Amino acid sequence: MDNYLSRRQFLDFMGRTSAAVSIGLTGLAGKTALGFASRRPSAPSFAMSPSADDKVVLARGLSYSLLAKLGDPLNSKGDTFGNDNDFIAFVAQSGNEALLWVNHETPNHLTLFNGQARPRSRSEVLNEMKAVGGSILHLKRNGGIWELVKNSPRNRRVTGATEIAFSGKTRVAGSFKAHGTLANCSGGVTPWNTILSCEENFEDYYGDGKGSKSRYGWETAFERPAEHYGWVVEINPLTGEARKLIAGGRFSHEGATVTQAKDGRAVFYSGDDAEDQCLFKFISDRKDSLETGTLYVADTLKGRWIPLAVDQNPELKKKYKEQLQVCIHAREAAHLVGGTALDRPEGIAVDPKTGAVIIALTNNRSRDNHYGSLLRIDELGGDAGALSFKSSTLVTGGESTGFACPDNVVFDRNGDLWFTSDISGSALGAPPYSAFKNNGLFLVPLSGPMAGKAFQMASAPKEAEFTGPCFSADGKTLFLSVQHPGERSQSLKNPTSRWPDPAGIPRSAVIALSGPALDASLRYT
Ligand code: FEO
Ligand code: CA
Ligand code: CA
Repeated sequence: MDNYLSRRQFLDFMGRTSAAVSIGLTGLAGKTALGFASRRPSAPSFAMSPSADDKVVLARGLSYSLLAKLGDPLNSKGDTFGNDNDFIAFVAQSGNEALLWVNHETPNHLTLFNGQARPRSRSEVLNEMKAVGGSILHLKRNGGIWELVKNSPRNRRVTGATEIAFSGKTRVAGSFKAHGTLANCSGGVTPWNTILSCEENFEDYYGDGKGSKSRYGWETAFERPAEHYGWVVEINPLTGEARKLIAGGRFSHEGATVTQAKDGRAVFYSGDDAEDQCLFKFISDRKDSLETGTLYVADTLKGRWIPLAVDQNPELKKKYKEQLQVCIHAREAAHLVGGTALDRPEGIAVDPKTGAVIIALTNNRSRDNHYGSLLRIDELGGDAGALSFKSSTLVTGGESTGFACPDNVVFDRNGDLWFTSDISGSALGAPPYSAFKNNGLFLVPLSGPMAGKAFQMASAPKEAEFTGPCFSADGKTLFLSVQHPGERSQSLKNPTSRWPDPAGIPRSAVIALSGPALDASLRYT
């Protein structure tokens, strides 16, 4: 019991957070519902039990405020905050002012159309387009709490209807630009402070280009080539200008986590989130641009990065006549050259202290892997520009470790790892996931006596997942998306969740966590 806040520190914290929405105290018992306390005597008592409540429940020493939710007005043009917020990027403008990019991954028909049947008219599809893409939020900090600047001209939207050019004046499927960005899941931030927003399950909107019907049916109103989606999109948060980066390849991009090679070249890591798909790395030719460079796929068995370059590989040359075709068909090309099939590579974070790359492998039901794991890659010489590496498993999900289905990952300033879980809505609360209850936010210390163990720090409302964990520049705030609460609701009269408004309908929202449990120097004293 000596690893958590003293009572005095806790009371100090309580006094300082009266403006916040709620404080969770479920960690006070010091024993989890899964009975971990007996198996993990060194567990800090701030860590909480799983919860099935329809609210955000927090570990001791954390509080939250609501920053923005679906439909909130942003500016005088009539733009509103979109649906199903995911990846978050914090771009500081000064100590108390910032721009926050937020991805909007999917439309939600129930909340956008009051529960009507799936739209088919052009105007209804256009409304769904406005619900996806991303938001740029102008924030100011007042009294320690980050707030949206209402009606700021710096609040902007990029949507499924925004015209976006392909990088390098490339013509893709007959056009130099795409109509919109969609399926915006995770992302990254470049050293030059642009945002990378990644198009993941793009075939859900206009189909896969092979004639199958899409999930959202947009192709019934607009004909768009499938090749225009599945890219990394780079956005300037100061202007809202965007472009799709061709050289980074096209697949179900979960995110694009940026770092630098020892020689300064920009590098990003990206997973193709589907069962038995691969992990990629892009090494730019330059320090300040991602327009040209080489895309590699990971062979985790031999510990090598294999270039997806048509001029370097006879297999690729036989199949594709030019590099553009390799980029468009990067998933297929990756397997052709020997990329390793993985268990849904999703979130990726680079350890700021060691350069180790942590990759969330969510699960792979086709291989009977229900709980997933965190994969660790150590590049040769700690250099992101290296072409060989060692891989190992950092921690495996399961009842004995207290989590399942890791998704987004981020490091804090102390070098501890935070991750969110994504047990799908249809599987939550049922075997083999019963013990985990709702999805959560977890902390894995990477040093000290608790290194490598996972502790739950927050629980999401019903059928929601937490996504996009992102620290402010000073590490004192953790922005977090609450995505799709009540996603299995059949009716707005009787939704399965009413978060965040107990009298209202479920809405995705971004929250801002603060409190001493974010601070490693307070967390363990
Ligand atoms: Fe959009 Fe793979 O999560
Ligand atoms: Ca994800
Ligand atoms: Ca997810």
